Amino acid sequence: MKILNKANRPEVVDEQVVVPKDDVLISVTDPKGIITDANDIFVSISGYSKEELVGANHNLIRHPDMPRVMFKVVWEHIKDKENIMAVVKNLRKDGKYYWVITDFVTQVDEDRNVVSYTAYRRAPKTCVLKTIEPMYKALKAIEDFAGIDAAEHFLMDFLERRGESYDDFVEHLIVNTCEKDDIRKAYEAGTAEEKKGFFNRFFGI
Ligand SMILES: Cc1cc2nc3c(=O)[nH]c(=O)nc-3n(C[C@H](O)[C@H](O)[C@H](O)COP(=O)(O)O)c2cc1C
Repeated sequence: MKILNKANRPEVVDEQVVVPKDDVLISVTDPKGIITDANDIFVSISGYSKEELVGANHNLIRHPDMPRVMFKVVWEHIKDKENIMAVVKNLRKDGKYYWVITDFVTQVDEDRNVVSYTAYRRAPKTCVLKTIEPMYKALKAIEDFAGIDAAEHFLMDFLERRGESYDDFVEHLIVNTCEKDDIRKAYEAGTAEEKKGFFNRFFGI
C-alpha cells in the first residue's frame, strides 16, 4: 500500500532548485495518471525514491502555486490524444520547487485506446518564467476568488485575443522573448567594435 497521499504532502519551502540545462526528466503514467516509471534524473530531482514514486498518483508532486486550470487543459488534450507542452512548477519531497517545460505525449494501442502517457521535462529559460509566473499567479488568484471556470474563461480569452493555443503561446515566448534576451546579453557582453557589428547585423545601422 502507498504511504504517500495528499494528507502527508510535504510542507512548501520557498526555495527553487534549478534543473541543469541538459537534463531531461521523464515519467510515465497509466491512463489514470498513476506513475508507472520514471528515469533516474526525474527520481533524483523529485527527492523521492523510485519505489515511492511508482504506484503514486502524479499529483504527488503538484505544487500548490500551480493553477488547477492548467492541468485541466493538459488532461483535456492528452485524453483526446493531442500532445501538449506546458510550463509546470513542481514540488519536491523536501518542499522546495523546480520549474520545467513539459511535453505530454500520449501512447495508444492499435485500436487508438490510450495505454500510457509520458512526460518529458526540461529546464525553462528564466525569460519564459518572467511571463509565466505572473500569469499563473493571476490564474490562481482568479481560481481562488471565483473558481476554476472563471480562470478557464480568463485563460481562453487571453489566448483567443492573441490568436494562439497555449502551446503556441509558450513556443512564441521562447522564440521571441528569449531570443531578444539572448541578443541583448550578447550585445552587452561585446566590445565596442563588436557592438557596432551587432547593430549592423540586427538593426541595419
Ligand atoms: C504523464 C503525466 C505527467 C504529469 N506530470 C505532472 C507533473 O510533473 N506535475 C504535476 O503537478 N502534475 C503532473 N501531471 C498531472 C497530474 O496527473 C494531476 O492532474 C495534477 O498534478 C493536478 O492534480 P489534481 O488533479 O489532483 O489537482 C502529470 C500527468 C501525466 C499524465
